[in-house]
Amino acid sequence: MEFYDVVKTRRSIRSYGADPVPEASLGRVLEAARVAPSGHNRQLWKFYVVRDAEKRRRVAEACRGQTWIAKAPVVIVAVGWKIPFNRGGYMGEMSFMMDVSIVFTHLVLAARAEGLGTCWIGDFENDKVREALGLPEDQHVVAVTPLGYPDKQGFTASTGRKPLSEIAEEV
Ligand SMILES: Cc1cc2nc3c(=O)[nH]c(=O)nc-3n(C[C@H](O)[C@H](O)[C@H](O)COP(=O)(O)O)c2cc1C
Repeated sequence: MEFYDVVKTRRSIRSYGADPVPEASLGRVLEAARVAPSGHNRQLWKFYVVRDAEKRRRVAEACRGQTWIAKAPVVIVAVGWKIPFNRGGYMGEMSFMMDVSIVFTHLVLAARAEGLGTCWIGDFENDKVREALGLPEDQHVVAVTPLGYPDKQGFTASTGRKPLSEIAEEV
């Protein structure tokens, strides 16, 4: 798919069919994430690929009861961790939030290019997601997404965005 078509037709998909995610597609999606930039090239991230139905159910439950997430055949949980110093700006101990957000953007766009739906999930309880997957305490969940083929909902162009004239200006 052409890059701008990918960007324009990526939507939050909240309805999934049961068709499995092809291994090759998943591999390309994760590879697109792997090459993302990060501060100092630290790559303070890890992706957990959740296929097990019970674990998916528990992760969805930890996303404040957004149970529809578990309908997707795969759920991806992205974590990052702190660094023990602060260089100022966003190069400090919480810089993983920035880095994981970038990498997750690569992931959701690559998924769209594969015809796969995602929905960036930020409404979750960190401890409960960690518990569901048995993750170490120093790994902080930054984002969760279901991954699968859209069911009823299609990839339609984004709506409800501010006009360019409001968000970009020459100074
Ligand atoms: C940081 C972040 C957190 C979000 N959390 C949720 C969430 O918990 N549940 C949900 O259904 N959508 C969530 N979304 C999706 C947004 O609602 C969605 O991106 C926005 O309404 C624009 O719609 P679109 O993605 O279809 O273009 C989140 C998106 C972002 C970027």
